[in-house]
Amino acid sequence: MRLRRQIRRWVADGHPQPHAVFMQVGDNPASSQYVGMKNRQAEKIGCRSTIELLPEDTTQQQLLARLAIHNADPGVHSILVQLPLPGHMDEQQVAESISPLKDVDCFHPENVGRVALGLPAPRPATPQGIINLLDASGIELQGRHAVVLGRSNLVGKPLGLLLLERNCTVCYCHSRTPDIGAVTRQADILISAAGRAGLVTGDMVKQGVVAVDVGTNFVHILDDAGEPEYDEQGEPRMQLVGDLLFDEVAEKASWISPVPGGVGPMTIATVLENTVALYRRIEGV
Ligand code: GUN
Repeated sequence: MRLRRQIRRWVADGHPQPHAVFMQVGDNPASSQYVGMKNRQAEKIGCRSTIELLPEDTTQQQLLARLAIHNADPGVHSILVQLPLPGHMDEQQVAESISPLKDVDCFHPENVGRVALGLPAPRPATPQGIINLLDASGIELQGRHAVVLGRSNLVGKPLGLLLLERNCTVCYCHSRTPDIGAVTRQADILISAAGRAGLVTGDMVKQGVVAVDVGTNFVHILDDAGEPEYDEQGEPRMQLVGDLLFDEVAEKASWISPVPGGVGPMTIATVLENTVALYRRIEGV
């Protein structure tokens, strides 16, 4: 792997190991899974990686104090705060408290603004992962009509900027769009990051669409009678599904990315790319 080779060389030349800090507040199982994967992959390419797991009842001030310590630590090169944070916390204030120089997720307004202006900055992880996935699959972006479902700061909004940068004609749909299907049927490239299982049905896409599913929805597994299934402990059985009704959309799509397995691994790859880019800037290598 390219990044691993580069890191090995820098360390052999006497530079410090890149150090990524992954912060998580509370033990949301999905967050633990994502943070665990990022940590493993960072170590695999030769980074030092630290998971800082704070209790659910951590106060905003306590989290900001930990961030200030990592911001000031010259041995830390990248900081990620896993979302969602517990309800009592202010995510925007947290985003603004990560040093822009260590902001591996591109959450800080300065970096978001730089991306909007086309200036060098850490790339927003999931949106850049989607662009990389499309590029790696040989999908032409220039001049194509891209429709983004969702306008979150995490995915939808920055994704539109990256698609625009690549010369797509970009349209956003969201919860107040009156007839989403009328818009999505025009899409050459349809990307759903709305977070609603089954939102996109087969009749909402045109023949040959390129469909990217960014939804991560945990839904009940139903039995043949349509009732929720339970495990031996009496807990409902859940499964991870995207926003697309996969079989219906796949029938018309020229290319489709599934959930799980599509965008997720590409997001992690972008976090690693960003970690190395931040390290290079801080260490001057
Ligand atoms: N939660 C879901 N996706 C992400 C992500 O890309 N970064 C962070 N920090 N939290 C997330």
